[in-house]
Amino acid sequence: MQDILEKLGERRAAARAGGGEKRVAAQHGKGKLTARERIELLLDEGSFEEFDMFVEHRCTDFGMETQKLPGDGVVTGWGTVNGRVVYVFAKDFTVFGGSLSEAHARKITKIQDMALQNRAPIIGLFDAGGARIQEGVNALGGYGEVFQRNVLASGVIPQISVIMGPCAGGDVYSPAMTDFIFMVRDTSYMFVTGPDVVKTVTNETVTAEELGGASVHTTKSSIADKGFENDVEALLQMRRLIDFLPASNTDTLPELPSFDDPGRLDHSLDTLIPANPNQPYDMKELILKLVDEGDFFEIQEAHARNIITGFARINGRTVGVVANQPMVLAGVLDSDAGRKGGRFVRFCDCFNIPIVTLVDVPGFLPGTAQEYGGLIKHGAKLLFAYAEATVPKITVITRKAYGGAYVVMASKHLRGDVNYAWPTAEIAVMGSKGAAEIIYRAELADPEKIQARIKDYEARFANPFVAAERGFLDEVIMPSTTRKRIARALNMLRNKELQNPWKKHDNIPL
Ligand code: HXC
Repeated sequence: MQDILEKLGERRAAARAGGGEKRVAAQHGKGKLTARERIELLLDEGSFEEFDMFVEHRCTDFGMETQKLPGDGVVTGWGTVNGRVVYVFAKDFTVFGGSLSEAHARKITKIQDMALQNRAPIIGLFDAGGARIQEGVNALGGYGEVFQRNVLASGVIPQISVIMGPCAGGDVYSPAMTDFIFMVRDTSYMFVTGPDVVKTVTNETVTAEELGGASVHTTKSSIADKGFENDVEALLQMRRLIDFLPASNTDTLPELPSFDDPGRLDHSLDTLIPANPNQPYDMKELILKLVDEGDFFEIQEAHARNIITGFARINGRTVGVVANQPMVLAGVLDSDAGRKGGRFVRFCDCFNIPIVTLVDVPGFLPGTAQEYGGLIKHGAKLLFAYAEATVPKITVITRKAYGGAYVVMASKHLRGDVNYAWPTAEIAVMGSKGAAEIIYRAELADPEKIQARIKDYEARFANPFVAAERGFLDEVIMPSTTRKRIARALNMLRNKELQNPWKKHDNIPL
């Protein structure tokens, strides 16, 4: 009996050794943790239960039959984050460069199936060289099996990808179909084809970092939702994110004890809006003052900064915050903002997370660059997302809400549940100057006359009361009471039930 127990111990130790001391040292030398070290940090202490640690590949080509390592380049299993179940797989770069074989793929799909069946989030930690080259089509088929499950799980359970090393070829498409992609700065990169292939095909000379590092994907391409300084920060922040998310689309929202009084007034907000309507102010200041303990997990903070998206809590329950940022491009909506906001709103709607929208938007960005780049369809993504969302929607217009952008930003007309405005709100088809210059074009030559027209337009429309008189706003509120109003509205909407007509799925302007 003792022998058998020892044998188990030995086999476990061999599996846990991964690719061996030398490769583990090389991994550490690059500033990266190993797959198992990462899982330890991600999950509650001692909660990880590993599956399939003895699985080996069955490839017999290219001498692979003599090279077998238990686990086959991926560590899979489940554990808890602050007591809540999550499933996890972590590519082990020390074993065949974390490359995906048929057996490796089966380990991942087993975990995907369990996560979907048992309705809990799944987190993938990526650090790998793509398809196991020696396996050919078996590896390709393995990817296909993983992708198919990503799609079936989409909108049912949260799927999160963290890129912590190379992520190339077949490895990029599974993350691309998950809800969020996070990257570690300087040690991770993502691309379909690497610098060598790029050089051959397009004759461009580019480094891995320039082609697909966190600096590129969190800003230019918007593939990644956030970058972190190192493995430890990334994993601890994933724990923070999981705390905001429900386990599935049928689960209730996580509720955390909060010491922040939901009725808290903040008188500094009464003077947040500058006297000059063209002067910016920081919308993030408002967000941090509204939410519990100023705790805000921002998504895509380095991309399309004219719109802010992220998770927070009010009265202990998660909300998705979407806000125009007057500090960047005056908070205008452009193509990037349309895509970023639309995707975030849809995530919230999938997982029953109420949406709080803070509006200060001068309109859509004019110009050929935007129009040629598809502004109409990209802007429509945000419009579509808000209009189809059935979760509680609470909107606060702080200042400008002009034109189509007024409608888009969770207005009453798109089934906003509770629509507030501050007394500083200006709701109109366009800014007063532009409006007067169009309506009174004939008087343009007379500056005094046109100035009077602008003043008149301002007096009539640069306020919230016309919209309030129509019932397009439910109430004009004192800025200092905003947190209290939102907290009360969220409570009132807790049992909201609203269903869209049956359809196979919609046809969002992709
Ligand atoms: C098998 C691989 C491998 C792979 C790496 N290794 N990638 N083994 N299949 N795809 C092995 C190496 O042989 C090496 O083994 C160990 O992993 C570490 O790799 P190194 O090259 O020494 O590491 P490093 O210098 O850090 O470079 C990492 C890398 C490079 C940039 C990822 O390994 C690389 O370019 N790999 C190939 C990438 C690739 O072209 N993949 C196929 C993509 S096509 P030893 O024993 O020496 O430690 C694809 C299509 C799928 O994925 C499409 C599905 C839809």
